[in-house]
Amino acid sequence: LVIDGVRVFRLEAQSGATDFVSQGPTPTLGYNGTYLGPTLVAARGETVRVDVTNSLDADTTVHWHGMHLPAAMDGGPHSPIQPGATWHPEWTIDQPAATLWYHPHLHGETRAQVDAGLAGMFLLRDPDEAALALPRDYGVDDIPVIVQDRSFSSDGAFSGGLGMQFDGVLGDTVLVNGTPTPHLDVATERVRLRLLNGSSARMYDFTFADDRTFDLIATDGGLLEAPVPSTSIPLSPGERAEIVVTIASGERVALQSRAPDPALNAGAATFDVMQLRGADAPSPSPEVAPVLAELPAPDAAHSVTERSFVMSGHNINDRQMDMSRVDFTVNVDTSEVWTVRNENPLPHSFHVHDTQFRVLTIDGAAPPPRLAGWKDTIALEKDRVYRLLVTFDDYADPTTPYMYHCHLLWHEDQGMMGQFLVV
Ligand code: C2O
Ligand code: CU
Ligand code: CU
Repeated sequence: LVIDGVRVFRLEAQSGATDFVSQGPTPTLGYNGTYLGPTLVAARGETVRVDVTNSLDADTTVHWHGMHLPAAMDGGPHSPIQPGATWHPEWTIDQPAATLWYHPHLHGETRAQVDAGLAGMFLLRDPDEAALALPRDYGVDDIPVIVQDRSFSSDGAFSGGLGMQFDGVLGDTVLVNGTPTPHLDVATERVRLRLLNGSSARMYDFTFADDRTFDLIATDGGLLEAPVPSTSIPLSPGERAEIVVTIASGERVALQSRAPDPALNAGAATFDVMQLRGADAPSPSPEVAPVLAELPAPDAAHSVTERSFVMSGHNINDRQMDMSRVDFTVNVDTSEVWTVRNENPLPHSFHVHDTQFRVLTIDGAAPPPRLAGWKDTIALEKDRVYRLLVTFDDYADPTTPYMYHCHLLWHEDQGMMGQFLVV
């Protein structure tokens, strides 16, 4: 729907029940339905507005994860929507084609609301991506794959599953786009999967059952310079990857997850995520373009400040989130070098609002190709030093902060988060 040149979306957060399992309906939350929400699609240069109505009986917010936008539109914990109210954020899309997503961000309630079903994808398109030989027919050969782990109790309700681990609740059942034991009928030679780890704690390492090679083409904030032939792609909560895989005529193959570390994946080390079923006479797909995007070399020479972030326990730099404390202030239209280190044996990740960053080095070395593109969330291996080049363009606001935090949602809710102003 386009009104006066503005693309308008409507989201209504509502409660309901969803049939996942035979034990009975599961009480859930969803946008415009009972579980998850519609995929929003917008193009670079478009002005978008989302009318978000809260039909829940509690406050919520909607955050546009990965989006470059003014702080007041970002949907962080300072933008609660009261029950019955409608929020109208509006901004202009000014970033490359990418797989972004949206989810609630109410302080202390994020995990509960996301786990109940509030999340959806937000796809960005641009003319450069549109000109490339890639599968891009949404729902045909370009497929959103929202991966979540859940557990069910004997009456069908979501349960605590495998229990509260050090990093949150891990489930024993994988849902893809809200579907248990899913399969995908692939009608084309190649299919593009937009993988989103939409779980609150579980780490995945996506592979195919026969270890076939696929092309990694994009990470959180957009296309890589060139396809990276890969046999696995690890994703921590909140991270995305776009892959293109070839499926032979009549073939059956499982997309699986293999635990990067069994200790982080209680319940199963290797499990099926989704079956792919090739058509008997697949329609032809183009070969993946050998060059995908021109990425500027990340150059720290113009960085104006260095900051360091130590992730430990449920703290960042020994502090817990305080809604009334701004942790630091950044000057608009500048770049900074942020050094991030996870001091714990616990898994943590690091996510920054408003921006897509580049990884300069990990322990002094260049990042692997899968981490060399645009990122907004990164898994932190213990004791390694991640140097990130972080840029904050365009939007200054002396009153509304942006967030940075661990994207394991229980950690975030526990206060493993801070806030900064761009002025
Ligand atoms: Cu995906 Cu601050 O969140
Ligand atoms: Cu975010
Ligand atoms: Cu954490």
